[in-house]
Amino acid sequence: MKSLLCTEIGPLDRLSIQDVPTPDPGPRQIRIDVKAAALNYPDALMVQGLYQVKPPLPFAPGSEFAGVVSAVGPEVTRCKLGDRVVALGLGGFAEEAVVDEMRVMPLPPGMDFETGAATFLTYCTSLRALKDCGHLQPGESVLVLGASGGVGIAAIEIAKAMGGRVLAAASSEAKLEACRKAGADATVDYTRQNLRDAVKDFTGGKGVDVVYDPVGGDYSEPALRSTGWRGRYLVVGFAAGTIPKIPLNLALLNERSIVGVYWGESLVRDPAGHVRNVKQLLEWFAAGKVRPMISERVPLGGAVAAMGRMLQRQVVGKVVVLPEA
Ligand SMILES: NC(=O)c1ccc[n+]([C@@H]2O[C@H](COP(=O)([O-])OP(=O)(O)OC[C@H]3O[C@@H](n4cnc5c(N)ncnc54)[C@H](OP(=O)(O)O)[C@@H]3O)[C@@H](O)[C@H]2O)c1
Repeated sequence: MKSLLCTEIGPLDRLSIQDVPTPDPGPRQIRIDVKAAALNYPDALMVQGLYQVKPPLPFAPGSEFAGVVSAVGPEVTRCKLGDRVVALGLGGFAEEAVVDEMRVMPLPPGMDFETGAATFLTYCTSLRALKDCGHLQPGESVLVLGASGGVGIAAIEIAKAMGGRVLAAASSEAKLEACRKAGADATVDYTRQNLRDAVKDFTGGKGVDVVYDPVGGDYSEPALRSTGWRGRYLVVGFAAGTIPKIPLNLALLNERSIVGVYWGESLVRDPAGHVRNVKQLLEWFAAGKVRPMISERVPLGGAVAAMGRMLQRQVVGKVVVLPEA
C-alpha cells in the first residue's frame, strides 16, 4: 500500500510516498481503509520535530481520518469489519492505517467520509476551549485570531452556536469573507487595521469577553490588552511561530484569566467531557450549525505541497487528502 512517510525529522521535502507492507492490527487495534484524511497544523509541525508529540520514526502523518474497517485485532469489541468510522490517531496520510480501537468512533449518520475526517480534531479543540476553558456565556463577545484557519472557523461556528458575538481576525479579504460565511458578526484584517480599535468598536469600548488565540506572535499582546473586566484569554497555538512573552500585570488589571487549552491531553484526563462534547457537536451538526469548511481536496501526492501552503499561511478552512484519488 502507499503511504506518506516521515523517515527523518526535518523540512517537508524529506517526506516521501513509499510502498510499504499493509500493517496488521495488534490485539486491541483496528485497520482502516482510509477514504479521507484532513490536514491540521500539528501534522506540519510534527514532521519537522516542532510539536509536543514526537512519534518514533518512521511514521505516516495524518491525525484525523475516516474510512472503512478492513481488519480487527482479536480483542476488539467496539467495531467490526466493514464499519464506517472516524479515527483520531496517526497515519491517516496512507491507503491503510492502524489505530487503537479507543481512538475510533462510528462515522455519524448523515456525514460523508470527507466531513467525518475534517470535523472532530478542530471542532473538539474549539469546543473544549470556548466551553470548558473559556466558559463562554450567551451574549458574550469573542475575538477569534487566525479565524479562517481550521480551528478558527470551528471557533466562529461554535461561539455562534453558544450564543456568542464574534469578531473574526484574519490576514486577507478572501479569508475575512470565509469568516463571514462561517457566521462572524464582524471582521478585522489584523495585518492592516488596528486590532485594539476594532475590538473597541465591536464592544462599545467595553473590551472583549473571550479571546481565542491559535496564532501567538505579535498579535497576542494587543489581543490580551483588548479583553475587558474578567476577560478570558485562551492560549490555543502558535501558528505565527513565536511564543509571546506576556507581562503578567495585564492579568492583574481587569482580573483577566490566561487559560491554556490542550485538547489532546484533555482526551486522556477528561474522557467523559470529550464524550459530552462530541454529543453536543453532533446535535449542532444535525441542526446545520456546524460544518467544516473544506476548501481543497488533494490526492496523497498533494499532501506535502498542501502542508507547505499551510505553513505559508495560504490555506482557508480545511484541506482533505484523498488517498484513493
Ligand atoms: N491547543 C490545542 O489543543 C490545539 C489543537 C489543534 C490545533 N492547535 C494549534 O492551533 C494552531 C492552528 O491550527 P490549524 O490547524 O487551525 O492551522 P491553520 O488552519 O493553518 O490556521 C492557522 C492560522 O494562523 C494564522 N497565521 C498567522 N501567522 C501565521 C504564520 N506565520 N504561519 C501560518 N499561519 C499563520 C493564519 O491566518 P491569517 O493568515 O489570517 O493570520 C492561519 O489561518 C496551530 O498552532 C496548532 O498547533 C492547538
